Parts: sequence; C-alpha cells; structure tokens
Amino acid sequence: MSVYILGIESSCDDTSAAVLDGTRLLSNITAGQEVHRAYGGVVPELASRAHQQHIVPVIDTALKEAKIHKNQLHIIAYTRGPGLLGSLLVGSSFAKAFALANNCVLIDVDHMEAHVLAHFIQNSDTPKKVPQFPFLCLTVSGGHTQIVKVNHYFDMEIIGKTIDDAAGEAFDKAAKIMGLAYPGGPVIDRLAQTANPNAYQFPEPKIEGLDFSFSGLKTSFLYFIRDRLKENPDFIQNHMNDLAASIQHSIVNILTNKLKKASQTTGIKQIAIAGGVSANSSLRNRLNELAQTEQWELYIPPFEFTTDNAAMIAVTGYLKYIHEQPSSPYAIPYARQEARYDHTNDR
Ligand code: KG4
Ligand code: ZN
Repeated sequence: MSVYILGIESSCDDTSAAVLDGTRLLSNITAGQEVHRAYGGVVPELASRAHQQHIVPVIDTALKEAKIHKNQLHIIAYTRGPGLLGSLLVGSSFAKAFALANNCVLIDVDHMEAHVLAHFIQNSDTPKKVPQFPFLCLTVSGGHTQIVKVNHYFDMEIIGKTIDDAAGEAFDKAAKIMGLAYPGGPVIDRLAQTANPNAYQFPEPKIEGLDFSFSGLKTSFLYFIRDRLKENPDFIQNHMNDLAASIQHSIVNILTNKLKKASQTTGIKQIAIAGGVSANSSLRNRLNELAQTEQWELYIPPFEFTTDNAAMIAVTGYLKYIHEQPSSPYAIPYARQEARYDHTNDR
C-alpha cells in the first residue's frame, strides 16, 4: 500500500516541499531567497516574509509534479527546529492547518536528524544502498558541524561538535573577507577548482577529542589578508583562486582529520556525510581517498539532498511514523537543537 507524505522545510532561507511514497521520492521543490544576497547573510525577518510568499506555490508545485492530490496524502511532516523561529513558524503553522483540514497525520521533524536520514531517500527505480547501523555521519552545514554516531534511525549520539563556528560559516566568513557574495561556500568551491591548495598555509586548531574549532582559522585568514593588502592593495584580486583553494584545503583537513579519528576510536567504517557543506567537491574527493585507505563504506548523498530540502523532512516523517516515534500536534518550534528534548511547552 502506498503511504503518501508531504514534507515541508522552512528552517532558514529555503522554502521546500516534497512528496514521497514511503521512502520513494516523487517530487522535491525548493525556492531559495535572493533577497539576502545584498546583506551578506540571512536576515531573519526577510526570511519569514519570503517563506509566506513561497509556501503555497512551492507545495502546489510539489503536489502537481508528484501527480498527487491533497486528498491522497496520509502524513504531513514539517521541520520543527532547529532554525530561525520566524521561518519555522511559517512552515509549522501551515503544516498544522493543512493536516487538520485534510485529515492527515501530523509529524514534527528535527532538521539535523533529517540531514542524517536523507541517506534513506530512494530516488531512482533501482534500490539505492543505504548505510548500515551503526554508522558515523559528518553533518556539516551553515549552522552545525558534528560527528553523529547513528545507532538506529532515532538513536543518535553527537560524539563531536564545533566549539565555535560551523564549517559552512567558516566558508561563508572566508568568502566575505575576500569580498565574495553570500553564501560563499559554493563560490569558494568553484574558484578553487583549478588553483593550488598549498599556496598558503594556515595553522590548524589543536582541540582535544572529536570536537572542532574554526574561529582561529578565520582570524588567521583575516590577519593574513590584512597584512598582504598593506603591501599590495590588489592582493585578493591577484590571488583569489589560490586563496580560495588554500582556505578550503584547511577546512577540509580539519573536518576529515576528526572524522578519521572518530572512525578509528569507534571502529565504525560505515561513514556518511550530510548538510550543505557536503556538496563541497574537495571534501568529497578527500573522503573518497580516505574510503580507499581506511576501508570505509562511504555514503555521499546526491547534491539535491545535501543543502536544505523537504525530501529529507518527508523521509524522516515517514520513518518516525513507521517506527512509532512520538509526535505532538501541539509541538511548538524550537530555535536551538538542545531544546528538542524539552517538552514542557508542548501543551
Ligand atoms: O545545510 P544547509 O543548506 O543549511 C543549513 O542548515 O545551514 O548549509 C548551508 C551551508 C552554507 O554555509 C553554504 O556556504 C555551504 O552550506 N555550502 C558549501 C557548498 N555548498 C553549500 N560549502 C562549501 N562548498 C560547497 N560546494
Ligand atoms: Zn540544514
């Protein structure tokens, strides 16, 4: 029997809707928000207004593309948090009203859990290989950087996390220092393609255990550029590609060294990546090399499931449903990941 799920994602600056039949993808539509470009980062108030404009057409398109009528839907899954509260309120309010009006089961989804569970989306006619439990997932986005030990779908332990900036933030801040547009991660990736990653060296942080730090790297990049600009005002323009390749090299080094350490200390060789930064081509290349030398079984998601998307929300909603995970229709959004375990405001 088919189980049709509509997923809704609105945690940051992408409004996304997807329709799945169980874990099988039928449609996945995302509207980005150009309005933030001029500000060098996401402006929360502008984001929630843009979500309000986009949410109806995006859901309409997702249903049409999936050739599913709203009366056929069984489950509405939406992002409850973490994210920007104003943005989350648009998606969660819509999801609650839509589920009530169409007599659907309503399921709230944690955005970070969904990034990990994106690996279980089946998006082609031939069944895709999925990670075996337990696996390690390096979740790297604009707001989070963590190594998650995934014991089962809803039994996840964060065994390493950033103590300051996220990896995506490090990319975006480095890009901003070079005067590049937001979000800078994809721009740095593109500029670095043909450049020398060893042109400039930046010190790597010495953090105990499996935690990460990126703020020191950002500061040394900033000071390095400031000093060079004193000697040559065109320094950035003249060395843009090598600068991009070198900072990317440092960020990828920090990420992959800790992931390697996590695999060695846990003995787990099923390795996955998730989140916006997992689109980075240098990170993907390095992980493929490590898969060879460390005998990893590596799972890299297709590009459309790396950055924020509703397909990952829908698949997580479906998995929560079949594994009978609790979900309250009164659940209110939360901004920070830690808050998901606090249910005092659920009624
Ligand atoms: O997961 P995501 O779409 O949104 C959050 O939940 O944060 O991640 C967005 C982050 C941004 O910082 C963006 O610069 C980064 O992912 N990103 C990349 C690439 N594509 C997106 N960073 C490096 N290389 C890329 N190709
Ligand atoms: Zn995300």
